[in-house]
Amino acid sequence: MSRFDKHVFVCTNERPAGHLKGSCSACGGNEIKNKLKSLVKQANLKNSIRINSAGCLDACEYGAVIVIYPEETWYGKVGLNDVAEIFQSHLVEGEPVDRLLIPASELAAISTKSTAERFGDRHAGKKSSLPG
Ligand code: FES
Repeated sequence: MSRFDKHVFVCTNERPAGHLKGSCSACGGNEIKNKLKSLVKQANLKNSIRINSAGCLDACEYGAVIVIYPEETWYGKVGLNDVAEIFQSHLVEGEPVDRLLIPASELAAISTKSTAERFGDRHAGKKSSLPG
């Protein structure tokens, strides 16, 4: 039995400006986490829904990234304007927000791609000196 009905991890990882991989912090990860926490508190659901910051979830090209357990639902390209919908639809009503899901096939493919394959198009012409 899980301690929380829903355990939400919001990537708030930071990288230097211009980093090849970008970062969820630059995509609003902290603001998204704070808004989710606020909505949970307002709804008095703190005992059943937990919102935590996460380091890099290794899906940076989809930032800002959120993963919700126990169902392991991955959301990508989440913006601050999407937070209320994720809260109400997924966390309260149990219905995933389909338009923001990262397809399982895409998640599986991440581990088989090189960094250049993952980020080459996104940051064409940029080189990173920082691993990870
Ligand atoms: S920086 Fe958020 S998934 Fe990597």
